[in-house]
Amino acid sequence: MKILFIGDVVGSPGRDMVDEYLPKLKQKYQPTVTVINGENAASGKGITEKIYRRFLEKGAQAVTLGNHAWDKKEIFDFIDDAQYLVRPANFPEGTPGKGLTFVKTPKTEVAVINLQGRTFLSPNDDPFRKVDELIEEAKKRTSIIFLDFHAEATSEKQAMGWYVDGRVSVNVGTHTHIQTADERILPGGTAYISDVGMTGPYDGILGMDREAVLKRFLTNLPVRFEVPKKGRSQLSGFLVDVDERTGKAKKVNRIQINDDHPFFE
Ligand SMILES: [Fe+2]
Repeated sequence: MKILFIGDVVGSPGRDMVDEYLPKLKQKYQPTVTVINGENAASGKGITEKIYRRFLEKGAQAVTLGNHAWDKKEIFDFIDDAQYLVRPANFPEGTPGKGLTFVKTPKTEVAVINLQGRTFLSPNDDPFRKVDELIEEAKKRTSIIFLDFHAEATSEKQAMGWYVDGRVSVNVGTHTHIQTADERILPGGTAYISDVGMTGPYDGILGMDREAVLKRFLTNLPVRFEVPKKGRSQLSGFLVDVDERTGKAKKVNRIQINDDHPFFE
């Protein structure tokens, strides 16, 4: 079974890339399950119900979030009813939404988990202890587990990879918006990449308008970061072939689509 993941979709340029390339990627690779990180999908921060539904209509089966989960206030109106939307599971007890969902496939189910790191991010509950709990819960239903670990520090991400090796099928990192070239299958059979990268503006800075970011660096003055509406775009993804019987990864593939890495059908 192939699992396709699309990294942090940023604003309308990112959503347009999903519209244009998700059908092509599905045609080319025939994934059974597609997961999208949508925490930046609504103008760079947060997600709306309309966007969540659009991702499902376009062919995703689950949508993960991260530190911007709550940035669009309307999320509180729909997250509890959004079966395939997961926010970091280690957010404090009593937080709306959930951190684990199950996607049905013809032969089995895929568990989708979202967690957030604590290094250089908010001090949430321990993601390592939390993942133990969630793996145990997921294993009751399936051996195929997908984990999006939304974190800043590469060390924390690698630590998570080794921690869950052999216990989850796929562990992708998200949040830094820059794709890392360290994709691998860990010895226990977990597909790993420190960060899948971002889907959105190609000529900005981490998906934001570069003039504003540059102004911040040059002057330290408060500036408003916005997603550029015009210009070139990119898509960043990760494709894993998982043995359906054992839940172990068999093959990993980084995906980059941009003017320097054109897509071939
Ligand atoms: Fe993030």
